[in-house]
Amino acid sequence: MKTVFVLNGPNLNLLGTREPAVYGAQTLADVEQLCAAACARHGFRLEFRQSNHEGVLVDWIHEAGRLHAAGELAGLVFNAGAYTHTSVALADAVKGTGVTLIELHISNVHAREAFRHHSYLAPVARAVMCGLGVQGYPLAIDALAGL
Ligand code: DQA
Repeated sequence: MKTVFVLNGPNLNLLGTREPAVYGAQTLADVEQLCAAACARHGFRLEFRQSNHEGVLVDWIHEAGRLHAAGELAGLVFNAGAYTHTSVALADAVKGTGVTLIELHISNVHAREAFRHHSYLAPVARAVMCGLGVQGYPLAIDALAGL
């Protein structure tokens, strides 16, 4: 059984109360349920995590990378939050491990402030999804199943 890593970066623990007009009313626990259902449909094992700390996210990408090297990873769905727009370290971790990455954002970052239009992850991502709300998460898992 292959594993899907779903990683969430800074402030995504606040989903449900954080800017609901932008991010909706569903909590991170609700998102985990959506991901668990999608993984169950495809026979994937789910690792669903959130951290506000860049180095922790790097370590988790390395962990996913070890599964990738063993042929046991379906892919990584990553909402890196604001680190998307700032972090060379996260991009290097993805590149260095070779994991199949889907970059995901709940909001349509391209319809927002200019500083959200650049992503350090996009060049190392297999695909980028944004603007579908939290439904983007299970859709990203469906996409990994189809690759
Ligand atoms: C986000 C978009 C980012 O620009 C922002 O910093 C976030 C959330 C999204 O899911 O829409 O924290 O990644």
